[in-house]
This record gives sequence, structure tokens and C-alpha cells, in this order.
Amino acid sequence: MADWDLLLTDISVATMREGAPDYGVLENAAIAIQGGILSWLGPRAELPAKRAIETRSLAGCWVTPALIDCHTHLVFAGDRAAEFEQRRRGASYADIALVGGGILSTVRATRAATADELFETALKRARALLADGVATIEIKSGYGLDLDSEIKSLEVARRIGSVTGQTIRTTLLAAHTVPPEFNGDADGYIELICATLLPTIAARQLADAVDAYCETIAFSTAQVAKVFARARELNLPVKLHADQLSDANGAALAAKFSALSADHLEYTSMAGVQAMRAAGTTAVLLPGAFVSLNETQLPPVAALRAANIPMAVATDCNPGTSPLLSLRAAMALATRVFGLTPEEALAGATRNAARALGLADRGTLAVGNRADLAVWDISHPHDLSYWLGSDPMAGLLIAGRDASLR
Ligand code: NIG
Ligand code: FE
Repeated sequence: MADWDLLLTDISVATMREGAPDYGVLENAAIAIQGGILSWLGPRAELPAKRAIETRSLAGCWVTPALIDCHTHLVFAGDRAAEFEQRRRGASYADIALVGGGILSTVRATRAATADELFETALKRARALLADGVATIEIKSGYGLDLDSEIKSLEVARRIGSVTGQTIRTTLLAAHTVPPEFNGDADGYIELICATLLPTIAARQLADAVDAYCETIAFSTAQVAKVFARARELNLPVKLHADQLSDANGAALAAKFSALSADHLEYTSMAGVQAMRAAGTTAVLLPGAFVSLNETQLPPVAALRAANIPMAVATDCNPGTSPLLSLRAAMALATRVFGLTPEEALAGATRNAARALGLADRGTLAVGNRADLAVWDISHPHDLSYWLGSDPMAGLLIAGRDASLR
């Protein structure tokens, strides 16, 4: 009888454990996996004399926790490349949204698409993230905006995991924008969300969390508060697109409902930062949207850091503001544009991303955690943020099994 399924040797490890200095680096290490769980981790010299069914010597590669993309809108039809071109010619995101473009144009395309059509395109995007080391993806709805289309999108999201092996966490983002049938009646749509969409989707267990877009061009704090109160009644945790284009007190609103995360945060005030600290809300930074929108207002990174608020980094992959399909590119941008250190960027795509999703069993390498491991052909973990456009993935294990990368 073997003690372990798999033993990895000849590796350096970045455990990314909370409080461990310098990426939690262990050189000349070994990792043993049993039943999809990390069962031993330490210096090779201290490896207990146990038997493994398979032993792999990884020729000096680095092992980190597999990456976690904690904020995406992967399921959508069509694209908005023409709007991208318009924006590059001077139109603003808000201008385009106000004349029925923006999110609403993706809503039209997504409503018209079949589940299979949505699935085929979303699967390609999930595979692109997989090839970048991403084993867990959060996927939001929000391009359906009616019961059937939101259900269709969430079901498509869940299906992806059964094909790629990735863990998919779904988030209901019905309060993304006002759909055309409620034009001029945002409160009526909020009512529909609270009375029908939320309870139906909760009963079908199709969402792991609830998100909303709190912004002058979307929903007010009072409207979002109604959605969040209903979500909490249904025992669903909340997250928020907060203070992306203006300071709408989004961070404080998220904190009031003990949100798992408040995301974007470019215009968040110091009061918002303090509220997040008190509530234990994770900050999710989205440099892809920042650069795509030509934003100039930086999120309050120094204040978040000083307040010890965990900072996650995600792609925000969506057709409008962040057509970005590489979490490593998001990390690289976060170091350049937001001033994160390479270690903060890696923590942001592992430990703190897990926290933003409320997942306690991953994001760091520790005995008892899921064996979601990325193997990299690099000389130090800071290389992961240093290079833009390299392809150093040498393997990805999801719950101890090899993911098929291509
Ligand atoms: O995260 N801010 C709102 N939601 C998305 C944009 C969605 C879209 O433009 O299609 C975001 O930036
Ligand atoms: Fe988003």
C-alpha cells in the first residue's frame, strides 16, 4: 500500500502563506499529494520514508499555489471591439452606455445566443486562463438581466468546470444595468431582482454570491442595499463593483453588508477604506479595466496596504472594459500601474483571491489544502510579474490531477 498518490521532488516552492516572509520560499523542497489534498510539504532532506505511487522529479521548477481569477464576466456573446475603436477615437465609456451601447449591447447578444453558443466561447476563455495557471475562476452573470437569461448564463458557467476541471464560482450580477424592458424604471427592475431572480436562483443553487454595479450610470446605493439585504436573507454572500468611475460610497456599502470583496475601488475614500478594514472585506484590484478605460484615478493602494486590507488582483475579463484573458498579465499590470510589489501581485492572484471568494482550502500551499498547484519554469517567483507575455507554465495540478493545458 502506497502512502501518497504523487510525490514532487527537485522543486523550489513559494507557499504564499500569510505572514511568511519572502513568498514563503522553500528551496530543495518536496510536496506529497494524497486524495487530491496536499499531504506533506517541506525540505527534501526531511521527507519521511513513505511510498508514493508516482514520483516526479521536476528539474528545479518552481511550484506556487495555482492561480485564482476572482472577478470575471467570462460568459457573454459577441464582442465590443467596435466600441473599443470608438473609445480610442475619444468617446467615453459612459457616453457609449448612455446611448444603449456598452453593457446593453452585450445583453442583446447574450439573450439571443443559445446556451451551447455561449458555452463554446466561454470555454475558450476558460482554457486561455487555464493555460496561464488558473485553477479557480469566479464567473458573473449580468448580461442576461431576465430570469431565463441569467439562469442560462450561470448554468453555462457551471458547465465549464465539468469540462476543464477548474473550480467555477458563480456570482449573480443581475444588478449590472437596467434592462430595456425596464427603461426608466430602475426601481421596478430592482423589485424584480429581489422578488423573483434572487429567490429562484438561490433555490436552484446556481449562485455562490451576489454582486451589483453601484455607479451613477448603474444603480444607487439605496437600490444596491435592497438587493444586498435580500441576498443576505437568502444566505448568499455579496461582492460589489464599487467606486469604479466615481465615489459612490460603494466600499462602505459593501462593508455594511460584510461583503467578501469590494472591487475596482479607484474612487474609494479613506472612510471607505476604514469601513472595509472593520468588515474584513477584501479589495479586488482590476488593472485591465483601469488601462482599457484610460482611467487616471488610481485605487488607494497605499491606504489599503497601511490598513492591512488583503488585496486581490483579477482580470475582470469582459467584452467592454477589460478584454483581458491572462491573469499573469493582470499581475504584471498591477505592479506597473498600481505599484504592487511582485510578491503582492502573486498573493493577489492566490491567497487573497481565495479570500475574495470565501474559499479557505486553497490559495496557499499548506498541508490539508487542495492540491491545486502551478509548476513554473522560472528562476524566482517574482518572474511571474516581471515578464509580460512569457509562457513559463510547466504544469498545473488541480486537486492533484494534471490539467490538460492545450
Ligand atoms: O467590471 N463595471 C461594470 N461591469 C464591468 C464592465 C462590463 C461591461 O462593460 O460589459 C466591469 O468593468
Ligand atoms: Fe467587473
